[in-house]
Amino acid sequence: MVKLTINHKSFEVEDGITIMEACEQANMPVPSLCYLKDLNEIGACRVCVVEVIGMERLVTACNNPVWNGMEILTNSPKVREARKTNVDLILSQHDCFCPTCIRNGNCKLQKIAFSLGIHQAGYQRDITTTPWPKDIPLIRDSGKCIKCMRCIQICDKVQSLHIWDVAKTGSRTTVSVSENRNILEAPCSFCGQCVTHCPTGALSARDDKEQLFAYDAPIADPDKVVVVSIAPAVRTAWAEESGLPREAATPGKLVAALRQMGFQYVFDTNYAADLTIMEEGSEFLERLSHKEDFDYPLFTSCCPGWVRFLKSQYPELTTCLSTAKSPQQMQGTIIKTYFAKVAGIQPENIYHVSIMPCMAKKAEADIPTINDSGAGKDVDLVLTTRELIRQCRSMNIDFSSLEEEEFDSPLGTGTGAGVIFGATGGVMEAALRSCYYLVTGKNADADAFKEIRGMDGWRESSIDINNTTIKTAVVNGLGNARKLIEALLKGEVQYDFVEVMACPGGCVGGGGQPIHLDEEETEDRREYLYSLDQNAPLRFSHENPEIQKTYEDFLEKPLSHLAHELLHTDHTAWTVPGTKKIKPE
Ligand code: SF4
Ligand code: SF4
Ligand code: SF4
Ligand code: FES
Repeated sequence: MVKLTINHKSFEVEDGITIMEACEQANMPVPSLCYLKDLNEIGACRVCVVEVIGMERLVTACNNPVWNGMEILTNSPKVREARKTNVDLILSQHDCFCPTCIRNGNCKLQKIAFSLGIHQAGYQRDITTTPWPKDIPLIRDSGKCIKCMRCIQICDKVQSLHIWDVAKTGSRTTVSVSENRNILEAPCSFCGQCVTHCPTGALSARDDKEQLFAYDAPIADPDKVVVVSIAPAVRTAWAEESGLPREAATPGKLVAALRQMGFQYVFDTNYAADLTIMEEGSEFLERLSHKEDFDYPLFTSCCPGWVRFLKSQYPELTTCLSTAKSPQQMQGTIIKTYFAKVAGIQPENIYHVSIMPCMAKKAEADIPTINDSGAGKDVDLVLTTRELIRQCRSMNIDFSSLEEEEFDSPLGTGTGAGVIFGATGGVMEAALRSCYYLVTGKNADADAFKEIRGMDGWRESSIDINNTTIKTAVVNGLGNARKLIEALLKGEVQYDFVEVMACPGGCVGGGGQPIHLDEEETEDRREYLYSLDQNAPLRFSHENPEIQKTYEDFLEKPLSHLAHELLHTDHTAWTVPGTKKIKPE
């Protein structure tokens, strides 16, 4: 332990912790801007400076350790003046037009400048902007970049993709796409983790709301039937900024909010999550029956960030991906085929909006070979949870007065197995619940495979079904996916079935979810999804009555000819920019 004083009060803290951590423990927090625990501790912004008695220069609290006898001042006039100067200098290179900024009200720089009392610019503005394409899901406004380097570190250390890098030096230092590339040439997975960790509006997900809500857009077109589907992980985060506790912000209230917004049908993507399990689970069992023919495991394919990663980094393994489409895309195809038929609507008149926790889903809906309904794009528009929240705000929807409403049917019933798709391990657990049934003809306990749950980046398990051992792995975060694949290629590990989610924690931590500056909500969101599963009347995808009816009336059976035509896709039919060359054998 170390004895020190903070603002003249004595404390005893653990040896080895930083000044910032000690100040936090003492309830005398120090502001920070660039710091990201364990990822970005480079002392770039100098907003966290403190005075240490006996030292001439101020020291950064985020990356300097405490020592015995240290006397720290977190709030002296010298400290306040230095912080103000540092932030003022940052502002001089920042496009401070906050009212139109996507992060207005949720920006670390805005918050810190305001709390330091900077109400007038002290330095002349010198802002450089560089052009950026507007038709990809990842948007960058270089005029708002404060060079904190968080995006570089997240992409390098968590996602292992190295899309960003520092360019130029000295006062011209900037952050740009690495290797002098244009973003259109880089193998970005569109996971959006750099967006959710950017402290300002420099990085954002493309905002597509106006494509739906403008005065002449589909929502106002009497000839269009505008329908919406809600992904599992959206329901756990949609009301985070509303003041409603998570448990009170029920899916039924979200349905009511969407009807208020003008959607004619409100569907649950959990339905398609259950459908995905039927198709992907059957594909897995089929493959397991002659597993000696395969060198590598079957990979789940419901995460488009992961699919992009695998295709660009290990293109030779693309055929290991399950051919089952993701829930978003299955939902889209079924809406414009089966639902259109049941409801007697011309498929071309349906405009289908998918609300997702995800930025990569925007790119997935644009894959040219993914549409099988024959009525244009199967998913016309993808909005993130953040766009949903912004639209609710702009329409003044009062969450607290919403009465619960039911989803529309068919495509409105989902099981607990579908709900947990939103969390790392959920797809694998849901698949095993149904695989067990398909092999043995009876259900295992719904919690029989709960050892798969957790937040660790790479988890393994061995499951016995009818004397066959199934070796599974679950990974989240693309850096972990890379480690797993390297181990597979070296023959160090062997699995039958592998689930990968690009975002840490899975979709609950997705790149389209609400941003809470430095608070991570992933664990709470995940727990909420598991509580929905625990309390669900149905917890097995194969027991979903709407899925059973869809097969009876339309698809016939999993992996049928029609199911193959509509619900499966060829992942090799399109390319990701910057794809590595396949090494010769
Ligand atoms: S884009 Fe955002 S995260 Fe990246 S350096 Fe700029 S401000 Fe920081
Ligand atoms: S979206 Fe993901 S892969 Fe693309 S630059 Fe950001 S962190 Fe890297
Ligand atoms: S983990 Fe979920 S949110 Fe993240 S890229 Fe994959 S599908 Fe999207
Ligand atoms: S937060 Fe410490 S230097 Fe930026």
